[in-house]
Amino acid sequence: MIPVYLHLGLMSAAFLAMSSGIVVSRFCKKKKWWLKVHKGLNITAAVMVLSAVVIIAISVRTSGGPHFRVSHAFYGAAALILIASTPALGFAMFKTKDKTKIAGLKKLHRWSGRITIVLMAAAIIAGFSLLGIF
Ligand code: HEM
Ligand code: HEM
Repeated sequence: MIPVYLHLGLMSAAFLAMSSGIVVSRFCKKKKWWLKVHKGLNITAAVMVLSAVVIIAISVRTSGGPHFRVSHAFYGAAALILIASTPALGFAMFKTKDKTKIAGLKKLHRWSGRITIVLMAAAIIAGFSLLGIF
């Protein structure tokens, strides 16, 4: 059960960090520090999610069960894909040399980030129902 609690704890902390990172980009853009805090919180959240998935994947493997046997795992995997692509889009906004692409990348990043947090919430609800809590 310890890996499940570690998975739960890290994912919940990641959700809180990512929500705060999104709130900062939405409401604190007039502050000088907003981008630093947005990047810091979101990258920390992505690292926590990755560690939590590695922990649970090792636990599923050592208990002999097949991977992806519950719907929760699919919500989680979808969230994971966006957790990797959203920061990549964020960095691409600053790296692109073609200025005409910046507005499109911003829009993609904003929507990718919003969908990421919704998928995280869905995975968390499915995770709790897996444990019989909801
Ligand atoms: C954003 C949040 C979450 C994500 C992205 C996520 C992701 C995943 C993924 C990808 C797996 C599949 C691992 C595999 O089959 O190798 C998994 C398994 C699991 N998760 Fe989560 N998870 C999240 C939150 C939670 C929460 C909050 C709980 C508990 C309340 C939880 C409980 C579990 C359990 C018990 C398994 C093992 C399922 C099994 O035995 O096959 N997860 N999770
Ligand atoms: C998992 C990681 C990330 C998530 C989930 C995320 C999510 C978001 C969301 C939802 C917004 C729009 C907020 C709103 O106004 O409604 C946003 C804005 C923004 N993010 Fe991120 N972000 C992430 C990482 C990054 C990174 C790594 C960078 C920079 C390298 C970045 C740079 C920006 C910028 C510049 C904006 C403002 C875009 C605009 O002006 O519309 N983000 N982010």
